[in-house]
Amino acid sequence: MLFIEANGAKIPAIGLGTWELRGKTCARLVEQALRLGYRHIDTAQAYENEREVGEGLRGSGVKRGEVFVTTKIWTTHFAPNDLERSAKESLVRLRLTEIDLLLLHWPNPQVPLSETLGALARVKQLGLARHIGVSNFTVALIEEAVAACPEPLVCDQVEYHPYLDQTKVIEACARHGMAVVAYSPVAKGRVKNDQALLRIGDRYRKTSAQVCLRWLVQQNVAAIPRTSKLERLSENIEIFDFELSDADMREISEMGSANRRLTDFGFAPKWD
Ligand SMILES: NC(=O)c1ccc[n+]([C@@H]2O[C@H](COP(=O)([O-])OP(=O)(O)OC[C@H]3O[C@@H](n4cnc5c(N)ncnc54)[C@H](OP(=O)(O)O)[C@@H]3O)[C@@H](O)[C@H]2O)c1
Repeated sequence: MLFIEANGAKIPAIGLGTWELRGKTCARLVEQALRLGYRHIDTAQAYENEREVGEGLRGSGVKRGEVFVTTKIWTTHFAPNDLERSAKESLVRLRLTEIDLLLLHWPNPQVPLSETLGALARVKQLGLARHIGVSNFTVALIEEAVAACPEPLVCDQVEYHPYLDQTKVIEACARHGMAVVAYSPVAKGRVKNDQALLRIGDRYRKTSAQVCLRWLVQQNVAAIPRTSKLERLSENIEIFDFELSDADMREISEMGSANRRLTDFGFAPKWD
């Protein structure tokens, strides 16, 4: 497994996304993923599956120290006291003493960012989170956050796949030593029948999803594909035995001009 290094964190390049995985299915998939070699699991308070993610971690038999667990604080808990309390509640649900990476799930302009970041940094200082970061932050918000946060931020988790150009966010993260973690990295399954990705994949005997994930990792971006199918767990992690050519990398990057954003809400920031 390759790691993405950022401000002291070593983030396994492929993680399992768990949004919409619930109950026993979630626990079983987390357990299977870890048995197959995954070492990074992405959850969030809003996914309502932290308990099952914790069950899967324990069921796998993989040592706690070998797994990188991310969770995210929901925006209604951004007032400083609420944030610390809700981080502790996440730890209780996960049955962990420390989270590897704790993120602000979305920006929330209702609470001053410096107060929320102060509380997030305090959770780290208390030893409840090894690393902290943000998600769905634009370039302007990254700049504001880096200036206001007393502890280093290690990542911005954002939507990123071949159909969405994220050059600006990637450059902003790089300026501050932060990693980009790509969510919806296989464009919610839409890459499966992409003719260009299939054609490139034929040359390497890889699927279009594998080409897509390799394209992300080869840019030093971590990716957290989600699947509810056991066979796809293996498919999505078997991307470390081939390398895309510069021409292939360029061709896939050019698809970004399509600018197809798949996750957008009324409360989202004004995207770059
Ligand atoms: N920070 C945020 O605001 C945020 C927002 C969205 C997502 N996320 C995180 O990112 C994770 C991934 O994003 P996502 O779930 O939106 O999208 P995704 O991982 O791009 O796509 C998931 C969909 O693609 C299918 N799929 C997965 N692997 C495949 C493969 N190899 N071939 C064909 N289809 C495949 C899955 O179907 P099957 O189950 O049938 O395989 C599922 O329907 C989430 O689970 C969550 O942890 C974070």
